[in-house]
Amino acid sequence: MVQRVFSGMRPTGKLHLGHLAGALTNWVKLQEGYQCFYSIVDWHALMSDYADSSMIAENCREVLLDWLASGLDPEKCVIFVQSHVPQHAELHLALSMISPLGWLQRCPTYKEQILNIQNKDLSTYAFLGYPVLMAADILLYKAEIVPVGEDQSAHLEITREMARRFNSFFGNILPEPQIMLTPTPKVPGTDGRKMSKSYGNSINIADTPSEMWNKIRPMITDPARERRTDPGDPEKCPVWDIHKVFNNNEEEKVEIFSGCRTAGIGCVDCKKKLQAHIERVMGPIQEKRSFYEKSPDLLTDILRHGARKAEETASLTMEEVIRALGFFRRG
Ligand code: TRP
Repeated sequence: MVQRVFSGMRPTGKLHLGHLAGALTNWVKLQEGYQCFYSIVDWHALMSDYADSSMIAENCREVLLDWLASGLDPEKCVIFVQSHVPQHAELHLALSMISPLGWLQRCPTYKEQILNIQNKDLSTYAFLGYPVLMAADILLYKAEIVPVGEDQSAHLEITREMARRFNSFFGNILPEPQIMLTPTPKVPGTDGRKMSKSYGNSINIADTPSEMWNKIRPMITDPARERRTDPGDPEKCPVWDIHKVFNNNEEEKVEIFSGCRTAGIGCVDCKKKLQAHIERVMGPIQEKRSFYEKSPDLLTDILRHGARKAEETASLTMEEVIRALGFFRRG
């Protein structure tokens, strides 16, 4: 039996090169050997952005375009929007019955966000239950493998505990999923910090070559290299980190590395070389993106098909769950 994979992303807007080099490249590989379910988790987006949900639909479309452009293939994996499959909400409710408040209150991501996010009121019932919905997402498909970044490991642990707890009350129905930690190459943003939409330092998959160059040209480099004649240290340069991900020319990389240390190559030339590699990698991706952008009916079909496929599996699990709970049968 082929193993099942589930993963999801919140529709927060256009995806960037960090998403591409981390999650998406790995997801595209997985669709070849596993039965993959990839969900745009709009309910999760609403949990933190309920005060203004006006962007959610458009953001779902952007994420879908970026997924398809990056090589997720609706013939090889199931691509769907979470809210299109009502069983997510239903299993979330069932799991909430057995979710100890302590597990959720102690979750490190919850504590961190409640403390650090000032511009939204996250002290809601649903936000505390974020990991419950995530557990429902995964367990609904009885996924064996969940590819995510390290930042999601506490949620995965709660998912596993939730499966054990459900099974201990109602019988062995929900298998415990394994986390697959995605190898995430370091992709810094234009300011040298981790690339992130919230820092405003990202290079997006959808950026045109000239938009990309306008972000790469002024990028910070090794701060100690003030003049063209100063030698630099690539290990202290975010442009070099991105070379390591997108530059496939080993000889050129050796040249750049030693050229930087000897002031043989200037930062602008180094950035021009990087830009060329990004354009090489992104060319076909952007071509695909504009193809899908011009085909709104095709996007609708893909999501309708995805929701139908997802619901086939989800409804089987949900029937088992309802039976196990012992509710009065509708007949
Ligand atoms: N919480 C995940 C994130 O913010 C998104 C997510 C929701 C998810 N449900 C999931 C990831 C299920 C993996 C599996 O990145």
